[in-house]
Amino acid sequence: MSDAPVLTILGAGRAGTALARAAASAGMDVRIAASRPPAALRLHLAQYAPRATAVAAADVAAADVAAPLVVLMVPQEDLDSVDPAWLRGAVLVDATNRWDGEPVPAWLESGLDAGLSSSSVLATRFAGSTVVKALNHVSHWDLDTAGRRLDPADPDRRGLGVAADSAQAAAAVGQLVLGLGFAPVFLPDLAAGRVLEPEGPVFNRPVSGPELARLTGGTVGRD
Ligand SMILES: NC(=O)c1ccc[n+]([C@@H]2O[C@H](COP(=O)([O-])OP(=O)(O)OC[C@H]3O[C@@H](n4cnc5c(N)ncnc54)[C@H](OP(=O)(O)O)[C@@H]3O)[C@@H](O)[C@H]2O)c1
Repeated sequence: MSDAPVLTILGAGRAGTALARAAASAGMDVRIAASRPPAALRLHLAQYAPRATAVAAADVAAADVAAPLVVLMVPQEDLDSVDPAWLRGAVLVDATNRWDGEPVPAWLESGLDAGLSSSSVLATRFAGSTVVKALNHVSHWDLDTAGRRLDPADPDRRGLGVAADSAQAAAAVGQLVLGLGFAPVFLPDLAAGRVLEPEGPVFNRPVSGPELARLTGGTVGRD
């Protein structure tokens, strides 16, 4: 068995396969699931994420470790089809965004209407998981290519925000961000992740860790 860190991704579209390629290049053991079953996903992965292993969506949090890391890269409009039981016990990295006019499930719409950040609403829906907002404000192109600055001392490494209510979960996701070649910038709590959403000042803006920290009120992580 490999000692490589395991990363599991739910969603094998543009974002999920880009993250799978980046994580595999960074030496991680990547598992990935989509709405279609693993046998039907393999041909797609052969083209878009050849080093990732297809798993069933219901098995994404099945792992030997206590709190497996699962990155959610399913469109918000499809979230009703994601069973919270699949994700129980996981550190769930919410990388989703709502696009203009995207129809979303009623529970999400009402939470957003009440003024909550989308991750705060997801934390209620996926109550058996520890939700962390991250990896949503970088495009799939940049996820694939803009990381890979593997020297943690490089001051120009692009910053990526990490927002969580659990310090332990934030630290685990910070390690993932570092491993992908970006600089983690820690925000005070999950609700603060709103600044990373599409209407915010840093969405899809390639800025360094210190600049991201300045724009978001966060703190650049250290090794
Ligand atoms: N694209 C980007 O640059 C980017 C970057 C960061 C974050 N994001 C966010 O990530 C999310 C996904 O975006 P995308 O562009 O990757 O979408 P996409 O290309 O349409 O891919 C969506 C994926 O979700 C899967 N899926 C749908 N319902 C599912 C379910 N119930 N269980 C498991 N998998 C399911 C689909 O499975 P099938 O393949 O079987 O249909 C597909 O693989 C969005 O919220 C987006 O805002 C996107």
